[in-house]
Amino acid sequence: MGKLDGKVALVSGAGRGIGRAIALKLVAEGARVVINDLDAEPAAETAERIRARGGDAALCVGSVTDATFGERFVATALESFGALDIIVNNAGYTWDNVIQKMTDEQFQAIMDVHVTAPFRILRAAAEPIRRFAKAEAAAGREVFRKVVNISSVSGLGGNAGQVNYASAKAAVVGMTKALAKEWGRYKVTVNCVAFGFIRTRLAQPLTAQPNLIDVAGRQIAIGVQPAMIDALEKQMIPLGRLGTPEEAADGVYLFCSPESDYISGQVVTVGGGITF
Ligand SMILES: NC(=O)c1ccc[n+]([C@@H]2O[C@H](COP(=O)([O-])OP(=O)(O)OC[C@H]3O[C@@H](n4cnc5c(N)ncnc54)[C@H](O)[C@@H]3O)[C@@H](O)[C@H]2O)c1
Repeated sequence: MGKLDGKVALVSGAGRGIGRAIALKLVAEGARVVINDLDAEPAAETAERIRARGGDAALCVGSVTDATFGERFVATALESFGALDIIVNNAGYTWDNVIQKMTDEQFQAIMDVHVTAPFRILRAAAEPIRRFAKAEAAAGREVFRKVVNISSVSGLGGNAGQVNYASAKAAVVGMTKALAKEWGRYKVTVNCVAFGFIRTRLAQPLTAQPNLIDVAGRQIAIGVQPAMIDALEKQMIPLGRLGTPEEAADGVYLFCSPESDYISGQVVTVGGGITF
């Protein structure tokens, strides 16, 4: 028996890194999952891994920034599994620069993926969630649903070179708190997990040649200075190392599990002890 038996989850950006680990964790606890990623191949690989473990996954490939993506994501859950219980807004990336070199496109792209996209996904989920919740209330049943939005220590404490990303990840906190107040009546808990430094491609050490990721045809430099990683591990992260994607996923799972049914509107940092 898993703690999420019978539950249906949406996980965006689940083709790699933390999103993939979240999807695998939810499935290990019994959930069925709709896998989204911008990139088809890694998304399909996550779904294959889930099926290889005897789990159930549906695919919804494409950019969360497409105007109609939210409706498509929610419809995939309803059409594939007939339910919608957990939404994890995880998809995203960084596109750093100091403010004087940051373009409008660069600022807006990061707001679009981290703020507008989760807003549209949650708005699209409102109708089925209210419908399910009203039917359950009429039948005298209290069924909890879960939203977990992903933020960052950059959004809580700021980070040089990330005016766009820090603004977007701070906005996610406001969205979380507002929706927790709107959706309490439907028994939906809405929480936020702010990651510290997790070993994925976003936090890999910078080399002489910048590491580039392809985001919808744009080549974007990512990575962290090796000296910064050293300082983080020796001085700034109390637990002394970066986190793994699995540890990050465990933090998200806390807010998906029945043990968090009476916790809503909260932000938890999963950062090896980093506090603000
Ligand atoms: N790794 C860290 O240290 C760290 C720290 C704080 C917050 N975060 C946040 O955690 C989340 C996951 O990051 P990660 O480290 O696993 O990165 P990752 O690059 O390993 O995985 C992110 C996935 O999201 C997908 N994605 C990006 N843009 C998308 C879009 N428009 N539509 C659909 N999918 C898209 C990517 O293709 C990728 O597969 C992000 O929101 C990130 O900002 C990460």
